[in-house]
Amino acid sequence: MSKVNAKITGVGGFIPEYILTNEELSRMVDTSDEWIMTRIGIKERHLIKDEGRGTSYLASKAVENLLEKTGVNAEEIDLIVVATISPDHAFPSTAAIVIDAVGLTNAWGFDLSAACSGFLFGIDTAANFIKSGSYKKVILVGADTMSSIVDYTDRTTCPIFGDGAGAVLLEPTEEEFGLLDTDLHVDGVGIDHLYLKGGGSYHPPSHETVDNKEHYIYQDGRTVFKHAVSKMADVSLNMMKRNNIGAKDLTWLIPHQANMRIIESTAHHMGIKKEQVMINIHRYGNTTAATLPLCLWDWEKQLKKGDNIILATFGAGFTWGAGFLKWAYDGE
Ligand code: UT7
Repeated sequence: MSKVNAKITGVGGFIPEYILTNEELSRMVDTSDEWIMTRIGIKERHLIKDEGRGTSYLASKAVENLLEKTGVNAEEIDLIVVATISPDHAFPSTAAIVIDAVGLTNAWGFDLSAACSGFLFGIDTAANFIKSGSYKKVILVGADTMSSIVDYTDRTTCPIFGDGAGAVLLEPTEEEFGLLDTDLHVDGVGIDHLYLKGGGSYHPPSHETVDNKEHYIYQDGRTVFKHAVSKMADVSLNMMKRNNIGAKDLTWLIPHQANMRIIESTAHHMGIKKEQVMINIHRYGNTTAATLPLCLWDWEKQLKKGDNIILATFGAGFTWGAGFLKWAYDGE
């Protein structure tokens, strides 16, 4: 039997309408456009404003966009993996809600939690279902409603995050296209540096957890920054080396969009030019599991069959890693 690879055959996305600008944020907390642009590189972020809408809404919209663009019927989907750390509920899974909302009547699915590395860990997971030979059409969604866990009185975290969702369709191929390599890591070293302290089974919700604002993101930014800079560079460089991709052979780096300085440092260590890097952090902020697929969504038309793409992420846990994609179709 010949080897099967999993290739991306379509991209969908969704960004909520409401835009929170740096100017508006500067009226909410003691910050400025200048500080946010210099230290993070974000100009604006889109947030869900309507009540009663959570991550399943974003994910469903991205999946509908994907199905419409690819012309694939909802009933043809075998499996859906939703990477998120802001699910609608602890249970049932956001995947279950999306399956019902979009009418994926022949699919089963589940949520995958790996914070900012969610899409990368998810694509390896989804690809392995395809490689097993039992699954022909698998959707992977990266979706997060970060506004549901951000404290908009905390200037150290509220400028960073945004809401959004991106989705890809994965299908089998016997050619050398698709996800050809991954290098994924989790160490737990970062648990105390980036997390939700309360609301889970360790600190169940109580008046005390609410009073202490433990349902909002806690981040020790400097520590996370230091680890992110070194891990993203190491893993990306290693991915280039072991796949014999020189700086000139790399068409695109798709880095997690957490901080412009982390992105620039990663590109610098890889010896690549800024023109080879997908960057949309200034428009969406850090959408956690959605950053990578939203880059693919924004750049899809420019992509060409055979493009060499490296995905690189770093996030809470810590989780980090890189992947090598050989793009399978012309975007236009
Ligand atoms: O996606 C998951 C992974 N997350 C990341 O990769 C995030 C990694 N960390 C970062 O991106 C950066 O550490 C931050 C953007 C979170 C913070 O930037 P920084 O350059 O590390 O700032 P800092 O925390 O060292 O703070 C420097 C100063 C402090 O003032 P003092 O103590 O020097 O007087 C902060 O209080 O900047 C102050 N500050 C602000 N000033 C204006 C912090 N936030 C703000 C703000 N506006 N929004």
